[in-house]
Amino acid sequence: MKALIPAAGRGTRFLPVTRVVPKEMLPVGSKPAIQLIVEEAVAAGADEVVIVISPEKEIIKRYFDGDAELSARVRWACQAEQRGLGHAVLQAAEAFAGESEPVLVLLGDALVSGEAPSAAMAAISRAHGNASVVGLERVPRERISRYGIVAGVPEDDRTLKLTDLVEKPSPEEAPSDLAIAGRYLLHPDVFALLASQPPGHGGEIQLTDAIRRLLSTRPVFGFRYPGRRHDIGNPGGYLETLQAFA
Ligand code: G1P
Repeated sequence: MKALIPAAGRGTRFLPVTRVVPKEMLPVGSKPAIQLIVEEAVAAGADEVVIVISPEKEIIKRYFDGDAELSARVRWACQAEQRGLGHAVLQAAEAFAGESEPVLVLLGDALVSGEAPSAAMAAISRAHGNASVVGLERVPRERISRYGIVAGVPEDDRTLKLTDLVEKPSPEEAPSDLAIAGRYLLHPDVFALLASQPPGHGGEIQLTDAIRRLLSTRPVFGFRYPGRRHDIGNPGGYLETLQAFA
């Protein structure tokens, strides 16, 4: 399995430290946060990890280039302009050319404490003939508009077959309270869809919109994973992460 970590975001919610230290390099114990994410990918079976950075975030590359102890090959892609998460993922497309297996996408600012979601999602994907799987969490009504929200038909308590995805809807428009939560296993068709994806919410190219189009040709499942997601992209989320990992 191959993994992709978008880590090119500017980190505006965590200024001023992110002027020089990318949020993904903030320490959780003695390791930068992004190393824990790479380790989650490797534990789930990834033997190659492509990290998307911006030109200002070369320090992430310097960190991994100096570490020979990871049991995965790390490759690099660059997002020079901030045009959305879908655009960031698209910058890594070349590394997945000719792939037929789903790609594990882990957002570089989302750490999960407790049971790691990636391995469980890989198992669900295999059980459904290598289908795509999106990691989910329930969110309170007042936070719905910060997330991609899904609709689907329940398979069991934690799994559903998706029928729709909407990026950052208002609570009135939202099809449920199940939010996309930083982990995806996506059929590589998603790259071609992203290449033709017009800008969506906020004028940005949204990964959620491309997955919505993927639904018309490929099954996509949702998995409400048991671990707890922490957003290291803001000071409060980061402190919460440190407590959870302490
Ligand atoms: C991104 C996705 C959104 C998802 C969220 C958390 O939003 O676009 O669908 O719910 O991550 O995983 P962002 O936090 O980059 O605005």
